[in-house]
Amino acid sequence: MIQDLGYDVEYNDVYSLLREDLTGKSILDYGFNNGNLIKSMPDIDYTYTGIELQESFVNKMSKEYPNHTFLHLNKFHPSYNPTGTDIKLTDIVNERYDIAVAWNVFTHCTMENTKECLDEILEVSDKVIFNLYSPGHYEFCHRYLRPDSPKQLEDFMQSAYWIDDNEFIYDEQLEQTATKWLFSFYNADYILDTIKNSRIKYTKEHSVGGYYTGEVYVIEINKER
Ligand SMILES: C[S@@+](CC[C@H](N)C(=O)[O-])C[C@H]1O[C@@H](n2cnc3c(N)ncnc32)[C@H](O)[C@@H]1O
Repeated sequence: MIQDLGYDVEYNDVYSLLREDLTGKSILDYGFNNGNLIKSMPDIDYTYTGIELQESFVNKMSKEYPNHTFLHLNKFHPSYNPTGTDIKLTDIVNERYDIAVAWNVFTHCTMENTKECLDEILEVSDKVIFNLYSPGHYEFCHRYLRPDSPKQLEDFMQSAYWIDDNEFIYDEQLEQTATKWLFSFYNADYILDTIKNSRIKYTKEHSVGGYYTGEVYVIEINKER
């Protein structure tokens, strides 16, 4: 039985998947869990701050990497932090970062929450790299997690949420109540069009196959304007 709360993500070489040289950068790792980004960092100079909804991972990683900063953001999330509040990232962070990474985070968030978090991240970082699951990635997740679930998603326009074993919610908002787990699949052009504004530009960087990945996006503050 899968449960997001407390789930220890297994090792994944996140740094390689990003395809971004982080040498000399100040990095904000948004949703670090077991620290896959920091564990996969090569031997280069960088400064690192991690943000996490689950305090247990903040405590664990602070002990393992005492020279880096790990902060608890007690923000509501239906499966990772159902008792959280409406706190914002800027309530706990007052530095600026060269780059933020949110790897396999918005793959488990509602569309409304994703937009809100991206806005908050862009208040403290000029650039953010993140991934989303397209409908095609359901196949990997279903095979890996629940081979007994439907083989394909139904067609949808904007979003499909897979929650609590075998419930699928298409093109509708998820109620702000607790769920055991949440996988989010998007028509990414739709979600990215809705967040596009004159302040930001985005690029779709690449797509990586397999359960852990999805489509990789980069959003940057548009300094040309
Ligand atoms: C699937 S894990 C991915 C962890 C890690 N980035 C990796 O790639 O291995 C998602 C993590 O993001 C955290 N998370 C989800 N939404 C978040 C948010 N709005 N702010 C901070 N952390 C968040 C969850 O608590 C969970 O530990």
